[in-house]
Amino acid sequence: MKDFKRYTITSALPYANGPVHIGHLAGVYIPSDIYARYLRGKGKDVLFVGGSDEHGVPITIKAKNEGVTPQDIVDRYHGIIKKSFEALGISFDVYSRTTSETHHKTAGNFFKKLYEEGKLIEKSTEQYYDEEAQQFLADRYIIGTCPHCNNEEAYGDQCESCGTSLSPMDLKNPKSTLSGNLPIRKKTKHWYLPLDQHEDFLKQWILEENKDWKPNVYGQCKSWLDSGLHPRAVSRDLSWGVPVPIDGAEGKVLYVWFDAPIGYISNTIEWAEKEGKDWEPYWKDKDTKLVHFIGKDNIVFHCIIFPAMLRAHGEYILPDNVPGNEFLNLENDKISTSRNWAVWLHEYLVDFPEKQDVLRYVLAANMPEAKDNDFTWKDFQARNNNELVAILGNFVNRSAVLTQKYYNGTVPVLGELSDYDKNAIAELASIKGKVEKSLETFRFREALKEAMSLARLGNKYLADAEPWKLAKTDAARVETILNIALQITANLTIVFEPFMPFTTAKLRKILNVSAYNWEQLGGMDLIPSGHTIATPFLIFDKIEDAEIEAQMNKLMESKKLNATANAKSNPAKEEITFDDFVKMDIRTGTILEAEKVPKTKKLLKLLVDTGVDKRTVVSGIAESYKPEDIIGKKVSILINLAPRKIKGIESQGMILMAENESGELGFVACEKDFGSGSEVR
Ligand code: MF3
Ligand code: ZN
Repeated sequence: MKDFKRYTITSALPYANGPVHIGHLAGVYIPSDIYARYLRGKGKDVLFVGGSDEHGVPITIKAKNEGVTPQDIVDRYHGIIKKSFEALGISFDVYSRTTSETHHKTAGNFFKKLYEEGKLIEKSTEQYYDEEAQQFLADRYIIGTCPHCNNEEAYGDQCESCGTSLSPMDLKNPKSTLSGNLPIRKKTKHWYLPLDQHEDFLKQWILEENKDWKPNVYGQCKSWLDSGLHPRAVSRDLSWGVPVPIDGAEGKVLYVWFDAPIGYISNTIEWAEKEGKDWEPYWKDKDTKLVHFIGKDNIVFHCIIFPAMLRAHGEYILPDNVPGNEFLNLENDKISTSRNWAVWLHEYLVDFPEKQDVLRYVLAANMPEAKDNDFTWKDFQARNNNELVAILGNFVNRSAVLTQKYYNGTVPVLGELSDYDKNAIAELASIKGKVEKSLETFRFREALKEAMSLARLGNKYLADAEPWKLAKTDAARVETILNIALQITANLTIVFEPFMPFTTAKLRKILNVSAYNWEQLGGMDLIPSGHTIATPFLIFDKIEDAEIEAQMNKLMESKKLNATANAKSNPAKEEITFDDFVKMDIRTGTILEAEKVPKTKKLLKLLVDTGVDKRTVVSGIAESYKPEDIIGKKVSILINLAPRKIKGIESQGMILMAENESGELGFVACEKDFGSGSEVR
């Protein structure tokens, strides 16, 4: 890896409208913390920046629902988030917030500079305005009928039913959610970042010069760049946010995605002021490596929009890498704040006191690096009991206990080496290079596996060498074995420092040593013979079934509450007659072909054998089924539904689906294998 003079590491600023959950941790905060700790261990000049993202419409909606101010909301969650990060050992050099004075000034000045230098476009457009509430309506404040699928409750920015991105003007029968009234169209002026003007540069910079970015990140950038960039509005008609700092912009604020990434810079400035340092090299010196840790929903903002802003500004460096992660699921279901389907960090810390590293370990081991991944409590328990307790904990404890038993805690002398010893020592020496390579290419799971392989090595070494059998017959041999075991233990304090800092602190306590630096990893001279270690204590303990059951019960409560809420918000429809019912011609059918409808998240185009004919149906099931998995599936299909054009494809009929409270879909099919064409009634 090229050596840089300093490292600026950012982690996405979490929205201060809720606490942090394991999905955030596995995607962003665990990897960035591992990376920062690793580089610090190497003695690098590292600045690790975090903070809360406190603007945006959802915070205003939450405040409105609770009858409090947006400031109340962000004060509450900024406090919870900051405290829980600290407790988990996320080693931010600074954790500030976008409502700070420094941030308002920094973001305002950033905008002003672009504005004054003509780097922004000014445009007036018509937007929806609620006359009763006397305000322009954010996209999320407007609902109406989706032009693609006729869902009557589509939002102004997206239809949740068919997944299409919308703009408010696309909706039929728009309604303001503030007053319920039909909004009027009213002219309003906004400023746009002309992304199209940066397109050639971005194409060259990302697609040619940053081919080493992670494939999931690179792929998403490429698809954006391939479909062409357009100017993006960077201001909004809203009262919550950083005011647009120019005359005639009353009632307008910077778009939250314009101000939030500038928060990384503002927080750096706050840090520097406090520490008496110069902030500028961390953002302006070519010899600084800037790395943004984010989740996949943030990729376009960090790879395309923020770099375009930085470049337009002109004084800043661009990110060297943007290691975006995919999503973590929980017990095979999408994590969801509104459905309370999550493991919340602040609750975990209460339920599992002193077990920060167990969570850090399990989340690093399951990090969704290349694809979405799943967290389960069973896996959490198994990894703790079978890996942390049985391998790492067991090895370390044995080494220390035997040293106490045979030598009163004094590190014995390394004598003559057997081939077996030499192999173990060679393996120890090879770990450093492997872990470094994995960490520097953002393969954290692999790095953790390598670190764990050192604990496995130690555990196996002791188990095979059986010093307890030799104590009486070959005292010199036992000295050598324990010396090696203790050197391996000392090395574990180095290699695990980025991943499990609470554990390595405990290990150092047992060994009675102070912290090593990363470059010492692999060495056989970490603890001199004659040094005295402390009385050992257990560093991990078993997690019992009852603790796991308690967590599962907590989750099941959420499921039950959601099902009840769903039943309430989804009451039985009004009565129909038998004649109404028999109008529907429903048949058993078989799916013959399936493919994704391009540029949609939810739609699949299916070819279905109805027994009567073969026909094309567009179905909104792509989030529940992959095309390749449903070929040959038995379904029920309504065949006399009038054809509809969806995304330019004529859909002839409708597949019957059951939907649960989390929006997951399942086919409704005949229980017996009747073949296609049987009537359903
Ligand atoms: N708050 C955003 C989210 O949770 C992330 C903001 S990252 C920053 O998706 F770039 F704006 F800082
Ligand atoms: Zn729709």
